Amino acid sequence: MEWYDTYSVGVPEIDQQHKELVELVSHLQSKLSNGSVTQELGGALRFLVDYTKRHFADEEKFMASINYAELPHHKELHKKLINDVVLILLDIKKGKAVDPLAFIDFLTDWLINHIRYEDKKIAKSVALTSTNKR
Ligand SMILES: [Fe+2]
Repeated sequence: MEWYDTYSVGVPEIDQQHKELVELVSHLQSKLSNGSVTQELGGALRFLVDYTKRHFADEEKFMASINYAELPHHKELHKKLINDVVLILLDIKKGKAVDPLAFIDFLTDWLINHIRYEDKKIAKSVALTSTNKR
């Protein structure tokens, strides 16, 4: 997973967190690919999930501050991802074999699409808000 400037939503704090998320995911991805993650996988995934949760909370706070019209829908998307991920973590905890690389692929796809199509809409909303303030 790699960061491209086209992913920018035009809000520095959110872009920064997205960049950190991308970095976290790709770091874990490369560690998994070269087999250097074994027993700490659960911990690494939990850290990623915690970071994602904090990021979602910050993003939602920002959206509320600009009266983002699609906030309820956006919150649902965030909630759904966290629920899906928590179910996978539970499976791992129960000892079910989960392919970590497939899990990371799923997360990568979700993040890229979410940033490019959903978070990107914030940029438009910010532009509108600043126009209205003028
Ligand atoms: Fe989001």
